[in-house]
Amino acid sequence: MAATDLEQIVSLCKRRGFVYQSAEIYGGFRSTYDFGPLGSLLLRNVKEAWLRSMVQQRDDVVLIDAAVLSPPQVWQASGHLANFSDPLVDCMNCKNRFRLDKLDDPSICPNCGEKNSFTEAREFNLMFKTQAGPVEGTGADAYLRPETAQGMFTNFANVLQTSRKKPPFGIAQVGKSFRNEITPQNWIFRTREFEQMEMEFFVPPDESEQWYQYWCNERLNWYIDLGIPADMLLLRPHGDDELSHYSTGTSDVEFKFPWGFDELEGIAQRTDFDLKAHAAVSGERLDYFDPQTNERYVPYVIEPAAGATRTMAAFLLAAYEEDEVNGESRTVLRLHPRLAPYKIAVLPLSKKDTLTPLAHEVRKLLADRYLIDYDETQNIGKRYRRQDEIGTPLAVTVDFDSLEDNAVTIRDRDTTEQVRVPIDELLATVGDRLGF
Ligand code: GAP
Repeated sequence: MAATDLEQIVSLCKRRGFVYQSAEIYGGFRSTYDFGPLGSLLLRNVKEAWLRSMVQQRDDVVLIDAAVLSPPQVWQASGHLANFSDPLVDCMNCKNRFRLDKLDDPSICPNCGEKNSFTEAREFNLMFKTQAGPVEGTGADAYLRPETAQGMFTNFANVLQTSRKKPPFGIAQVGKSFRNEITPQNWIFRTREFEQMEMEFFVPPDESEQWYQYWCNERLNWYIDLGIPADMLLLRPHGDDELSHYSTGTSDVEFKFPWGFDELEGIAQRTDFDLKAHAAVSGERLDYFDPQTNERYVPYVIEPAAGATRTMAAFLLAAYEEDEVNGESRTVLRLHPRLAPYKIAVLPLSKKDTLTPLAHEVRKLLADRYLIDYDETQNIGKRYRRQDEIGTPLAVTVDFDSLEDNAVTIRDRDTTEQVRVPIDELLATVGDRLGF
């Protein structure tokens, strides 16, 4: 059974060093989080698993890393200056702000319960604006990107010229985005600073529908392959009233969060909206000449756009389980080995000097290939529990017999079964167990 209460994961993550409230020593900065030693590894593994399937295993997608800061023209062309806003209302009684479209009852303030206390709705642009330049008040306006996508569109011609790709092909990017959300909520689900994993897939216009279906399936299966049970996921097509200003069709991959099914990722048909808009504002040609047909066309775009931080929360919630081992209750994170922060824990049975040199040798042997946690404190049972709780798939125990037989014990997180393995077969055995 996955976690049924967000608090189970929030408290585990704080206790074990996955996620901390940002600037906690100053009372915390609302809805902003820092990723600790384990959280930063897990987040990195989520992004690497995405890159592996979206870039490494394909020959039709290339990676870029565009700037976070950009000039107003980019957001004028993309439509974000005019359209990237939420309807905001203020409660005149308690002074809290809300998104009108997220209120259960738009006549009652959910904070203070006052009736008919809201101001008229106004559109609130979600982009963070700043000044680029050293002297206050004289710099050029700049924006922190609210999505990574525009970097792919503004670099379309550069990538086309330098990568020798032709449609259908994709440009992928992973990085931070910023939105001045009116109601950040649910821990790392909706924050003002977050990470996205987005890919713009450029296709001949008449292939757009087939690629849209293809990417909907691919993306849903990515979550299932990494261990989220299929019944905790669904693919939900947007109604016409939900579509973004650039989209003619979008489906969301939704995950069963403790508060109900909610969005993990959107797969959108962006048509030629962005390339045409940037071509019009920049005056540059953003199209493709097909030498086979002698035709020039503006490619259509299919965009799978996921949130890395939000997806990390989903993987944690799905992996969480409380079970019983030898009559004792334990908490275990059944994370996929590719996502687990540490792949293997090396645990000398005792802190005695006699065991330490061999235990370090084993750690070094494995650390060349995998992220290892080395832990020699507390009794072995407690150390196993700790590794279970942080999701480490395998524990390798070095004991006094190891000094004689040159073998170690491998313990499996999920089954708790133990097997004895010669040290010179250890790398091959853990490789088989982890699957890489
Ligand atoms: N380029 C398209 C785009 O940005 P989006 O649906 O607004 O589409 C894509 O964002 C994904 O980014 C979402 O499905 C979600 O996972 C993540 N995301 C968006 N806003 C977020 C926020 N405030 N906090 C955390 N993740 C967010």
